[in-house]
Amino acid sequence: MTPRPRILTGDTPTGRLHVGHYVGSLENRLRLQRDHDCYVLVANVHAFTTRAEHPADIRRDTFELVRDSLAAGIDPDRATFVVQSEIPAIAELTFLLAMLIPYARVMRNPTLKDEIRSKRLGEHYSFGFPLYAVGQCADILAFRAHLVPVGEDQAAHIEMTREVARRFNHLYGGVPSTTHDEDHERAGGVLPIPKALIGRVARLPGIDGVEKMSKSRGNAIYLSDSSEEIRKKVARLHTGRQSVTEPGDPDNALFQYARAFLPDPERVRELADRYARGDNIGDAAIKHEVAAAIDALVAPMRARRAAITDAQVLEIVREHTRRANAVADETLRRVKQAMRLDFDVPRDVFVGCNPARVEDRFGSSPQPHSVLPRER
Ligand code: TRP
Repeated sequence: MTPRPRILTGDTPTGRLHVGHYVGSLENRLRLQRDHDCYVLVANVHAFTTRAEHPADIRRDTFELVRDSLAAGIDPDRATFVVQSEIPAIAELTFLLAMLIPYARVMRNPTLKDEIRSKRLGEHYSFGFPLYAVGQCADILAFRAHLVPVGEDQAAHIEMTREVARRFNHLYGGVPSTTHDEDHERAGGVLPIPKALIGRVARLPGIDGVEKMSKSRGNAIYLSDSSEEIRKKVARLHTGRQSVTEPGDPDNALFQYARAFLPDPERVRELADRYARGDNIGDAAIKHEVAAAIDALVAPMRARRAAITDAQVLEIVREHTRRANAVADETLRRVKQAMRLDFDVPRDVFVGCNPARVEDRFGSSPQPHSVLPRER
């Protein structure tokens, strides 16, 4: 049996998931989990790039993110949730890969530049902020993922990941630089060259009708919103249209919503046609249909969500993250071997990264060398 192609995707826990996530990426994840080996990363370390002062919020949002994903239909028996902070191989890989990307290349990354602008970071961002883009390369490559389902805003990160992987394989795997992306593994490269998979709706505007829908811009309709909240938020969408006979723009934010959420494309065409002609059709009527469609989409999620406890989330992420470490550790082993960094120092005595457990084994002050088991 050939192994299922591997997928890695993820989100930063900075708030709940919204309908922009759904059409941009979640929908693809739900479809692909059926026949792919699917990893869903919670990028809680990255959350510290902009919220280092709020560790409790990051922890809460980590739970919310997993709860939202489960409620949306990510199946814990098929997909694997990964809590980033619990995967030491990712941190190691980040450092190693950082040497393969020119600093100026990172700083030219358009997604980073956008974030600096839209979050008004100015020059006050931490060193770790641009580093997260390298960290994202490590997330993806640690799992040797072939496909990365993300929203369009993440495409620049995936492009950088591809560059790093090609360079790694060339430098340390002897893969000729003329090799096609699909052939890197066959040519001896450790890392597959991953592809981004952008969702059905590349960019959904927020309810301000201008900016992309985003947790941090406060313009989102959440998967966990009530029917009433959804109705109110859709009603706020501003189109600038004055009357039911004024010809409207059938590509405005309201129609982007109609296209994204109304189940019947024929109906959307009919509405758009009448809207463009100003054929006795009000914004309110369209908003009503759009809100009802969004509500129908998220209602089952809302119900499932309410039944998922923190304890269940914790049990799932513990079990899954353990499994994920096996994959990431194997990648790191191969990476270090290719980089001639293989010294075979036994690691099992460190029991992962939890110092308390090291103390369990060795008493309160582990004596590094004398107690290490000798290599056989
Ligand atoms: N930067 C992504 C976001 O905020 C989250 C993320 C971190 C991610 N690592 C990733 C997405 C790896 C895909 C693959 O949405």
